[in-house]
Amino acid sequence: MSIISDDNDFIEKTENRKRENVLPQSCDFDRNFENCIRPKSFDTYIGQTALKETLKISIAAAQKRELPLDHLLFYGPPGLGKTTLAGVIAEQMGVSIKITSAPALERPRDIIGILMSLQGGEILFIDEIHRLNKIAEEILYPAMEDFFLDMTTGKSQTVKTLRLEIPKFTLIGATTKAGELSGPLRDRFGIIHRLEFYSEEELSQVIKRTAGILDIEITDDGSHAIARRSRGTPRIANRLVKRVSDYALVKHDGKITRDIAEKSLDILKIDHYGLDSTDRTLLKLIIEKYDGGPVGVETIAAAIGEDVRTIEDVCEPYLLQAGLLQRTPRGRKVSPETYRHLGYKNLQQGLFQ
Ligand code: ADE
Repeated sequence: MSIISDDNDFIEKTENRKRENVLPQSCDFDRNFENCIRPKSFDTYIGQTALKETLKISIAAAQKRELPLDHLLFYGPPGLGKTTLAGVIAEQMGVSIKITSAPALERPRDIIGILMSLQGGEILFIDEIHRLNKIAEEILYPAMEDFFLDMTTGKSQTVKTLRLEIPKFTLIGATTKAGELSGPLRDRFGIIHRLEFYSEEELSQVIKRTAGILDIEITDDGSHAIARRSRGTPRIANRLVKRVSDYALVKHDGKITRDIAEKSLDILKIDHYGLDSTDRTLLKLIIEKYDGGPVGVETIAAAIGEDVRTIEDVCEPYLLQAGLLQRTPRGRKVSPETYRHLGYKNLQQGLFQ
């Protein structure tokens, strides 16, 4: 049992909040922490300000026309709130949402089943949509364009095509790799938006909101200390709040101050840039074994024992944006700032820091 939920006071408060509809009825902090703290409305969704404004206009226009919202594609690094935003849109439109991901739609019957189960106006959210296979994509095209399912029955000579009308729906696709989406699929989305990394101030607000829901006391500079090391990513910030809160409870009086946050994050080996030991191992490898690069991502993956997808999807987006890593046609290389950040005295020193 976790420190957070193994507390009678907290359990009682959680039940009260469910009664007041502040928390979803299904909220179970130990099992689905992320679902409990997901904002449900544009007012409680922090950050992505410009995106929220354009979405509100698209939603209002769709409502005035009494039509479903155009199909939407969200892209950007993981953990920035793509699924959460889809939930907020559903709430704002007053419709329900079905959530799935491309790897769960492996067989034609998976995608057909979910499309046939949709109600009019409903939102279908497909995460990691760049991983959809060709057959599933081709089933999706007429569904997205004309709200039809083209199905074939029988074999070779006796094959028949059946057009089946389905209710009008909105597809929200999410991807960390917009470049891997096929052209025809991308073209069928009417609205395409990129989610941006969060500022320190925005993350600090996310942290304070989460601490409020979890009934954790936190000071302003405590939330900023966590925000600074959260790599611009709310999912990481929320995870760190829990870890720091455990430390605060065990080592102190439960309150998160700047000092407590910094000590706890130091123990977790999360540095001032928010880098963890995997990030540092990756960067040090490029410096010490490959003279700062360039070196191919497959070589890096094999050397540090991580898979290429984890490196590309999880580690790299933030390292690239922080200017600590560069992508070149010949592979990855580090920047002078990487040497400085990791404590190398000059660029030639590599091994002899
Ligand atoms: N938790 C995760 N993402 C969030 C966001 N954008 N606003 C508020 N809380 C969040």
